[in-house]
Amino acid sequence: AAKVIIDTDPGVDDAFALMLAMRSPELNVMAVTAVAGNLPLEITLPNALRMVEICDRTDIPVAAGASAPLIRQQVTASYAHGENGLGGVTLPPPKITAVKEHAAELICRIVLEHPGEVTLIGLGPLTNLALALRSEPGLAKAIKSIVLMGGSLSGGNVTPAAEFNFYVDPEAASIVFNSGVPITMVGLDVTRKVELTEPYIRQLEAGTNKPSRAAAGIARAIMATYRGHGEKGGPTLHDPLAVSALIRPDILTFESYRVQIETNGLITAGESVGWKRAPIRYAAAFENSPRVTPSEEAFTANTKVAVDVRP
Ligand code: BDR
Ligand code: CA
Repeated sequence: AAKVIIDTDPGVDDAFALMLAMRSPELNVMAVTAVAGNLPLEITLPNALRMVEICDRTDIPVAAGASAPLIRQQVTASYAHGENGLGGVTLPPPKITAVKEHAAELICRIVLEHPGEVTLIGLGPLTNLALALRSEPGLAKAIKSIVLMGGSLSGGNVTPAAEFNFYVDPEAASIVFNSGVPITMVGLDVTRKVELTEPYIRQLEAGTNKPSRAAAGIARAIMATYRGHGEKGGPTLHDPLAVSALIRPDILTFESYRVQIETNGLITAGESVGWKRAPIRYAAAFENSPRVTPSEEAFTANTKVAVDVRP
């Protein structure tokens, strides 16, 4: 099974993604790390602990990470996930507690114990991953790959330019995309095509084990929230699709890009910009541009971007 560490901000779709990962024999979940994102860390951490308990995987260490983005003010999304991050479904407080290590320390330790073997799955703002990469210069070379839900080459969901996870902490996303670690980006280009549907909720409701009961309750609640907001389609299953990229890569098609994150834009902060080829081949004008380095080497692909979902 593929060794993975899941960094997450549960969050409704994070909860589904965690359950999917912990219940999939294809994955060996070595740790779960929590980050502030959809809700503050005081909510995302207990939610992560709850998911581990519900899946009877209390052998997996859970660590608390960053409670705010690297430099920006925290932004949350309770509008979409409910004040408790689980669509308003009340689950008992977790009995287990987080380990003492900080998320970034735990990530560094596990990756360095298994060089070249561990894939990091990023399902929230990339603050913890950036902190880990920054604190341990040797880390990037030891990470097998980073598979993340975030970004978009076709417009954002928080602003016209930016997807939520990158919008919340663009500097962290930029550190990750400049780390040299091979990245698989499962962004809005594909996740917006994968919605929770009524038949799928009924399938979950037919399940009897703890994870399916919890998932069914949350799914039912979030569907109602969506309807309450006047949305026609179903809630988007962003984060489970990123986990699926490791379990069943054949459901996605990918294209290689050099992805950079906008950290200076007033209106476009957090935008992911995908370069298909070096700037010099886009336009000769770049030769005199002080803004980008027109070198081919600087623009080798760093990311496999999921561009389509197979039906
Ligand atoms: C991403 O933002 C969060 O609301 C979701 O959990 C997902 O990770 C989608 O933009
Ligand atoms: Ca998330």
